[in-house]
Amino acid sequence: ELGPYPHFMAKEIFEQPQAVRQALAGRVEPGSGRVDLGETGLDPATLRSFQRYAIVACGTAWHAGLVGRHLLQRATGRPVSVEVASEFRYGDPMVDAGTLTVAISQSGETADTLAAVREARRRGSPVLAIVNVEGSSLSREADWVLYTRAGPEVAVASTKAYLTQVVALHLLAAWAAPTGAEATGLQLLQLPSRLEATLGLDPAVQELARELAGSEHLFYVGRGLDYAVALEAALKIKEISYVHAEAYAAGELKHGTLALIEPGRWVVALATQRALLAKTAGNVAEVRARGAQVVVVGPGASPGRAELEPMADRYLPLPEAPEPLLPVLAVVPMQLLAYHAARARGCDVDRPRNLAKSVTVE
Ligand code: M6R
Repeated sequence: ELGPYPHFMAKEIFEQPQAVRQALAGRVEPGSGRVDLGETGLDPATLRSFQRYAIVACGTAWHAGLVGRHLLQRATGRPVSVEVASEFRYGDPMVDAGTLTVAISQSGETADTLAAVREARRRGSPVLAIVNVEGSSLSREADWVLYTRAGPEVAVASTKAYLTQVVALHLLAAWAAPTGAEATGLQLLQLPSRLEATLGLDPAVQELARELAGSEHLFYVGRGLDYAVALEAALKIKEISYVHAEAYAAGELKHGTLALIEPGRWVVALATQRALLAKTAGNVAEVRARGAQVVVVGPGASPGRAELEPMADRYLPLPEAPEPLLPVLAVVPMQLLAYHAARARGCDVDRPRNLAKSVTVE
């Protein structure tokens, strides 16, 4: 089953272009870019009729939800909340019949997510599940299901499931938007080949992982969509290499975390969004002035690269792609960094200590 790969995690990272192809198949018309998720039983008018959207999920799926919030909010102009399922459940959630609860889960068996869904339904909110495993409890309990079609994911660390969740959310937002869905559809069709190109960063990331693997503390920073990617990047490396990693909204650094920056500390900055470039560059300058070594993950072309590369100790250039796809691509070198760091530290990549693939207890 592993084929040429030493671990399932590597196999699943390298399967991502194919997983995304599957996730798009029949949902985006190749010529026109038209998006159609009619298979869910929903329709765009119903999807747009909700006053609010509440995303619930755990772990990596919650990070996909953070991306989804940006996309859905932009598409619908309605408020979108995103909450960790275990907090949602006990937090007296403000959902009702006018709210669509969107539950995201790879396994569809996560106890906290199922409990959140039951609570939402008790309050009258219908549920759309974005789920990978067909026939799972979540798929059965939801009103509508959008399958991510990532195929089986074996490694405890989620990679291709996350990526296809993000693709599903891009599709959902495009479908919900009154205009512009075709343009998004056409961009998404480019994603598999852009992911293939991004995987070409593997040797550079492996080399970087050797340098970083000795660190006991790592910081990841980003703004907007890049902050969501930073959270996912930090979780990935914590989970499988046991390095202590924190992700911060880059603008928050000066509100406390900057005190932890000292000479030799590694900081990874995600900087894919042009509108936020100057601000993130400012944060990179702040940490470098305190002696940190900085890895920047940014655009492969300018604008972007010309400004960021000279400031970075290491620069990981993403392939040229439409800007909305760059945060999707940026997660790939972060998965690879976690993978190679874990190997360099002699960790059990596919079966990290204390963790289970599917968390069926609350
Ligand atoms: O099966 P689910 O997507 O509901 O699982 C949620 C989390 O337990 C899961 O994403 C976890 O955070 C991963 N091990 C992270 O890589």
